[in-house]
Amino acid sequence: MDKKITLKTLRDMKGREKIVMVTAYDSLFASLFDEHVDVILIGDSLNMSFAGQDDTLSATMDQMIYHARAVGNGTKRSFLLFDMPFGTYGSKKQALKNAIKAYGQTKVDAVKLEGGKEKADIVKYLSQNAIAVFGHVGLKPQSARQEGGYSVKGKNEDEKRSIIEDALALETAGAVGLIIEGVKPDVASEITKKLKIPTIGIGAGVDCDGQVLVWSDMLGLYDNFLPKFVKRYIDGSGIVKDAIKQYAAEVKDVSFPNEKFTY
Ligand code: KIV
Repeated sequence: MDKKITLKTLRDMKGREKIVMVTAYDSLFASLFDEHVDVILIGDSLNMSFAGQDDTLSATMDQMIYHARAVGNGTKRSFLLFDMPFGTYGSKKQALKNAIKAYGQTKVDAVKLEGGKEKADIVKYLSQNAIAVFGHVGLKPQSARQEGGYSVKGKNEDEKRSIIEDALALETAGAVGLIIEGVKPDVASEITKKLKIPTIGIGAGVDCDGQVLVWSDMLGLYDNFLPKFVKRYIDGSGIVKDAIKQYAAEVKDVSFPNEKFTY
């Protein structure tokens, strides 16, 4: 399909065809992914895999906008989703100001924010102001410091009920899609059945309307830690290290550049 993926496309895919989402942070990789995926998420995970930080919390609006512009330059077809960084949507006014900044300075189609029922009024306010918003429930990486790390959610009845309530509150508030991260698959499955909007899972089982993975995890480039839900489709770090090792050796032993690579 060559046509630009819109919100309508994603809505129509629910229950018919799985939605493929991947993160990208730059034009080069986004252009490689564009033909094969439906949604590209400019995720604040870039703060870890690109900026070398321990968590996502220090990502800034300016940093996200820089990367979102690059991704926009490399893509034609995918729906582009902008991750609102930590501390940029604490109030309705602040959220709208920053979402308008993202819309104004990049080509993104929607913004994403982490949180459940406690963020419903903000999602509603953004929706009333023509911003398309994805929610993000379950494991919320921006809560890592508050929670003392990352843990799977929905393991007991209270947690399960609370996540389902979060999802329903966000849909009622006007969210157009929902990321469900790090939850037991039965919870994600129940949410997916209850909601009209598409759900995209990451570590949430197979029943969501789509799946998202962080690109550097799925290409085996990020070695720092490997969550159970990540499938490494290639050994990216091995391939890159082998290539750079060979290049270095050839420069040292003066076998590169040979005649073939010389004008
Ligand atoms: O920042 C990100 O990459 C994300 C995904 C984990 C969904 O939010």
